[in-house]
Amino acid sequence: MQKKGGMFISFEGSEGAGKSTQIRLLEEYLLAQGRIVRVVREPGGTSLGEDVRQILKHAAYGASLGAEAELLLFAASRAQLVREVVSPALDQGQMVLSDRFTDSSVVYQGWGRELSVDFIEVLNRFATRGTVPDLTVLLDLPVEEGLLRARQRGGKADRMESMENAFYERVRAGYLNLAAADPGRFLVMDARLPQAAIAAKIREEIRKREESEHA
Ligand SMILES: Nc1ncnc2c1ncn2[C@@H]1O[C@H](COP(=O)(O)OP(=O)(O)OP(=O)(O)O)[C@@H](O)[C@H]1O
Ligand SMILES: [Mg+2]
Repeated sequence: MQKKGGMFISFEGSEGAGKSTQIRLLEEYLLAQGRIVRVVREPGGTSLGEDVRQILKHAAYGASLGAEAELLLFAASRAQLVREVVSPALDQGQMVLSDRFTDSSVVYQGWGRELSVDFIEVLNRFATRGTVPDLTVLLDLPVEEGLLRARQRGGKADRMESMENAFYERVRAGYLNLAAADPGRFLVMDARLPQAAIAAKIREEIRKREESEHA
């Protein structure tokens, strides 16, 4: 879809599912192939985005932040990220790996916080000016397992990591629902598989897609 062989790959899944791990492994692999790789995270990736990240994750008033304001802050961060970083990189044929993207809003603010999914989809299209990942890797993990990993990792739980179990169950169901509705874009992986096995499958999927593109 993008010019000169770039690809836009987003990584989705709940806290502790292994997104950052897989992005790091894929980045290493692609760099070794001589590709230019741009890794971005949400919220963040621009000056505005990193400020928004601070607000969403750590600001003193975070606990009283309403769902609507939260959604719009994520959207603002994403809009700037696409305009400043993602679109220019794809135009230059680079590989862009995004730690979360539009699906996170649908799932966390829509399914999780129960705002209108239809509205969120419209907002996503507006913020990204229609930019859709070529491939979305969904790392699917049972809720209990995810919380366990988060605890093992230690540190203080941030605002998004402090919700009740039912919230995370809705998030997981939301992700699986999105993936089922768009199987061409999603690669769903069992996040309990060994890291190397997941990484190998992701590489294979990219290779397959690039081959069919050049066929
Ligand atoms: N396939 C795997 N099997 C077992 N443990 C894993 C696997 N992948 C990652 N982990 C471990 O789980 C923890 C969370 O991984 P990681 O930080 O990559 O998740 P994440 O999805 O980026 O989480 P967050 O949303 O909080 O940023 C880490 O300790 C990591 O080493
Ligand atoms: Mg991470």
